[in-house]
Amino acid sequence: MSLSIQDAKGLIAEVKEREIALGRAPETWYTYENHVYGVANVARTIASKIKGTDEEQAYVNALLHDICKTEEKRVQRFHGILGYEKLIDRDEKVARAAIVHMFPWNKIPSFEKCSQMFFGN
Ligand SMILES: [Fe+2]
Repeated sequence: MSLSIQDAKGLIAEVKEREIALGRAPETWYTYENHVYGVANVARTIASKIKGTDEEQAYVNALLHDICKTEEKRVQRFHGILGYEKLIDRDEKVARAAIVHMFPWNKIPSFEKCSQMFFGN
């Protein structure tokens, strides 16, 4: 199963609706929305320059990399892990992007190492 751009935009819209319902000021939401759409546009542009790279996959991965950022403080768990858990049954590639983006880019362990660190398997 894989998530389309429309699916990803729908998930971002759901987060926005939930945060506003929880009383989060719309101004603070704009920062988040601008961030994820900005990162997605950059990712798609970079992907377009790399032969053989799937631009839509790059866009969706980037759009959803912070899908659980707004929940992090409420639940006291890292947002990349929450994002992985939210997305794994929907799209494994996107779920992996959510968890690995938490690491400094030059120190990203393999997905298998991340899985051992956070899930014990
Ligand atoms: Fe993040």
